[in-house]
Amino acid sequence: MKRGLKEIRWSLKRRYIAYTTTLIIVLMIVVGYVEKNQEERLLIDKAEQNGITLVEALGVSCTNTLLYQELGLIEEGGLLDNYILQIMKNKKLHVVYAMILDKDNRIIAHNDYKKYGRIYNDSVSLKATSAKKTLKQYYYDPIKKIKILDVATPLAISTKKWGTLRVGFSMEFMKPFLIKLYIEIILVALGFIFVSVIITWVLAKRLTEPISKLSDAMDKISSDLSHPEIEIKNRDEIGLLGEKFNKMIDRLRQAKKDLEKAQSQIIQSEKLASIGRLAAGVAHEINNPLDGIKDCFQMILKEPDNREQTSKYIKLIMDGLKRIELIVRELLDFSKDRTYEMEEVDVNEIAESSLSLVNYRIEKKKIVFKKEFCKEITKVFGNKYQLQQVLINLIMNSLDAVDGSGVVKVSTERENGFVNIKVSDNGSGISKNNLNKIFDPFFTTKEQGKGTGLGLSVSLGIVEKHKGKIEAESKEGVGSTFKVSLPLIR
Ligand SMILES: Nc1ncnc2c1ncn2[C@@H]1O[C@H](COP(=O)(O)OP(=O)(O)OP(=O)(O)O)[C@@H](O)[C@H]1O
Ligand SMILES: [Mg+2]
Repeated sequence: MKRGLKEIRWSLKRRYIAYTTTLIIVLMIVVGYVEKNQEERLLIDKAEQNGITLVEALGVSCTNTLLYQELGLIEEGGLLDNYILQIMKNKKLHVVYAMILDKDNRIIAHNDYKKYGRIYNDSVSLKATSAKKTLKQYYYDPIKKIKILDVATPLAISTKKWGTLRVGFSMEFMKPFLIKLYIEIILVALGFIFVSVIITWVLAKRLTEPISKLSDAMDKISSDLSHPEIEIKNRDEIGLLGEKFNKMIDRLRQAKKDLEKAQSQIIQSEKLASIGRLAAGVAHEINNPLDGIKDCFQMILKEPDNREQTSKYIKLIMDGLKRIELIVRELLDFSKDRTYEMEEVDVNEIAESSLSLVNYRIEKKKIVFKKEFCKEITKVFGNKYQLQQVLINLIMNSLDAVDGSGVVKVSTERENGFVNIKVSDNGSGISKNNLNKIFDPFFTTKEQGKGTGLGLSVSLGIVEKHKGKIEAESKEGVGSTFKVSLPLIR
């Protein structure tokens, strides 16, 4: 079964593109993920750093204020609230709350006045108020539904602590930045994937094109060995493959030549075998007119002056010599080992000349011989000597199969663009078992020395070379008919 490259669903090109694209996509997902995390980290770090700096700076002012208040240098309240107000005013800082707690963790200043005097006991607040140095904590505010960074710094000088400053920063400001970042990463990744797929596709095409070309050339050469060799353009693996294929084709061509030579040798030896069997008959064919010629000369010698009689016998001598010349020429022609060129030949003529070679055997057998040739033109494209070989073998087979009361018939006819040559007999016939073996080389039922078993196998080879068919019909004890059909030249 032949499979073209186009029929392969998962071609090398597709597979190459699929694998590379998958690899690029996976790579881009990993790189994108790492990049996203890094950018996020940078943003958070910056926000934390800003928050801590701000809270620590404000913490110094608050500590001073609390110290001065304790010393009675300034009045309580006012100033701390002012700090809180200032920090809340600056929208760029994304402050959600700001509060100052005293050493008992009671709120003494808050952006929300209602919270004054309160004490928080939640874990975040407890951690914030007990911290020895600036502490950052994250928590989720379920009411505002936002993530908050809580920065707390102790308001202390050395071991003396007055309280704690706590500022909550909303982390929501990061969201638009992050969304922008994600879109950027996705767009860059998609762009990269797109460009990579195009590059991969071009590369895959360049890589697989020589393979497709090689495959096409291989297809052409395999169906026709005479097709020119594959052109090797690149000295790469594919070029090497092409070179090896060319070498293989060379060997195939040589093998084909050897096979053809062996076949023609078989044909020739089969022919020589049948010539051997014809020779005795041909000798008789020559002997008969020779006897006649001898008689004619004797008659002439008896009355050398009888000019009328002499010219009559000379005519007869000429006829006899012509007959001898014809039979000798036919035999010589037939026996020559020649190159078998195909030309326009006439099947009736071939049948006639074949008969002249087997004529003696027909006569000797004393059987009824019938000849029925088609009156229309029976020209085919072929080789006279090879077709003669087929016919002689078929007729000799029939003659071998019949005995004294036998009938052998040779006929030609035209049918549906073909010329049929039929050789039939009412001889021994072929058993069912043997019928499918008769075309095998060396299959014979004849005794040793009488048949090589090559006749029909060589005939089949010749007929097939002529783009024709050979069929056998036979019934044991009834007879056989062999039909050779050759395409007619119109
Ligand atoms: N007309 C026929 N009648 C009966 N048997 C036949 C006939 N033609 C062929 N056969 C059978 O087919 C066999 C093979 O024929 P084939 O012509 O190939 O070889 P062969 O005649 O035995 O030997 P060769 O032709 O090589 O001298 C014969 O031995 C014979 O048994
Ligand atoms: Mg034979």
